[in-house]
Amino acid sequence: MDDPERYAYPHRVLHWLVAAVLLLSLASGLTLGFLGFEGAMERFGGLLTDLLYTAHKTFGVTILALMTVRLATRLLFVVPDHEPPLPAFQRVLSSSVHHLLYLALLAMPVLGWMATASGGFPVQFLHWNLPGLIGEDEALSERLFLWHGRLGWAILGLVVLHVAGALYHWLIRHDGVMKRMSLF
Ligand code: HEM
Ligand code: HEM
Repeated sequence: MDDPERYAYPHRVLHWLVAAVLLLSLASGLTLGFLGFEGAMERFGGLLTDLLYTAHKTFGVTILALMTVRLATRLLFVVPDHEPPLPAFQRVLSSSVHHLLYLALLAMPVLGWMATASGGFPVQFLHWNLPGLIGEDEALSERLFLWHGRLGWAILGLVVLHVAGALYHWLIRHDGVMKRMSLF
């Protein structure tokens, strides 16, 4: 478990949990974004549309909680050195993508939360309503939802880049990069 060439075990577990919940957040968010409320009602009916919104908000709030703990484990545990060291270009590119993912995955749920609350909608986590934290303001809500949507595409782009890099190391280079983050 304490392999010096790998990220700490709790950090690896968090990586894969966030990846799984992020895919659910993006899939449910993009469905809502593409269909809109009316479109979702027409296609799925009231009950499923409600469930989709509640599920999306629940996944998003879960990401916020997981990423907060993950930021702590990232700062608390030692990050292993690459052995052999990565070429400078790959080091700069991968660490930029990693840092941007941290920023985006902390900002995205906060934006969703604020957009929802300022629109006068409930901030749901499972069957609980969380405090909105800001007052109703329709114009602000529209702007925040716009940025929520834009950041969603940026996250998708970063994830594609990141997964392409991981697959390149795993399947083409056959170096130890994948093992640093894998659970087994
Ligand atoms: C990392 C977490 C999250 C991700 C990746 C994510 C992703 C997305 C995406 C891609 C969309 C579609 C946007 C569009 O095309 O206009 C969306 C919509 C939405 N998100 Fe999130 N979201 C997250 C967290 C949250 C949170 C925490 C909330 C509220 C508590 C939330 C509430 C909403 C709502 C209500 C919509 C529908 C907006 C509309 O109908 O235009 N999201 N989300
Ligand atoms: C889908 C959402 C994903 C997100 C948001 C994500 C995010 C991250 C971040 C931020 C890091 C930097 C380590 C840290 O400090 O936490 C990382 C490392 C890593 N990820 Fe992901 N990841 C995702 C999916 C994947 C997938 C699907 C794979 C494999 C195919 C993968 C393989 C790796 C590997 C091998 C590392 C270690 C890289 C290194 O040590 O330089 N990730 N990931």
